[in-house]
Amino acid sequence: MPPASGYAASNGAAYERFIGRWTARLGREIAARSLPSAPGPLLDVGCGTGSLSAALAAMHPDRAITGIDPAVAYLDFARAREDCAQVTFASGDAQALDAEDRSFAGVYAAIVLNFLADPAAAAREMRRVLRAGGLAVAAGWDFRGGLVYQRLLWDSAASLDPDAAALRDRLFSHPLALPDGLDALWREAGFVDVTRDEVTIRMDFADFDDYWQPLLGGQGPVGGYVAGLEPDLRRRVEAAVRAAFLSGSPDGPRSLTATAWLVSGSAPNGDARP
Ligand SMILES: C[S@@+](CC[C@H](N)C(=O)[O-])C[C@H]1O[C@@H](n2cnc3c(N)ncnc32)[C@H](O)[C@@H]1O
Repeated sequence: MPPASGYAASNGAAYERFIGRWTARLGREIAARSLPSAPGPLLDVGCGTGSLSAALAAMHPDRAITGIDPAVAYLDFARAREDCAQVTFASGDAQALDAEDRSFAGVYAAIVLNFLADPAAAAREMRRVLRAGGLAVAAGWDFRGGLVYQRLLWDSAASLDPDAAALRDRLFSHPLALPDGLDALWREAGFVDVTRDEVTIRMDFADFDDYWQPLLGGQGPVGGYVAGLEPDLRRRVEAAVRAAFLSGSPDGPRSLTATAWLVSGSAPNGDARP
């Protein structure tokens, strides 16, 4: 059994409402921009409810695809998806992959590595299981500069609650959220031809309720924070976030941008690793 994750991951449907509906958009961009040239199977590390796995399956109908994650509730959700019929989902830990050396032509991790206790171990594991000439891809939110939905929440809550300020600072200043964080990780792991790009999607909320209610589902650091607030503070945080969300106009649709860093690298051809 993989170790319990530090990422609050108790309910697949709640994850979908919270962020899976948006990581589906991100996953489609990642899959379209990151095409492995070598034939062979693909691995989605930290697959969650299957956002990227589904996108990979649509792009590569003839490849075997495996998704691994420690969250049983997310795996159950992913296994029930019709667009993931081609994908095998298994319980697993990115930091100790249960796979043979050099067994995949492409390895992917979308919005995962910054949540791990030891991201360097996960990068080494992704390198270990990648074939010579294979493609390794990681994406991570640009929390500090590019994730508007979290800016609204944390900056509003931080003015009322020091715990929110501390959580914001930890997430936003994580080395892998900084512009060159994922590149450095990939180079240290031994990938070559490392390149960085960025992907921006839009999160299209119908109204404030459509933004706020999914946060009460308790998934991830944001959901864990909001769902864990005692009622009076939660009401005050909600009022402050609502004012920031509305920004002077009546309630209704808001389209917020979300940018992720996207890093790619390869396992060297003629790779002589063990
Ligand atoms: C923000 S979600 C991203 C999920 C998915 N890749 C997506 O794009 O929607 C982070 C995921 O990392 C997973 N995770 C946490 N610890 C992990 C570990 N040690 N190994 C693999 N995945 C892990 C969580 O369970 C969760 O599914």
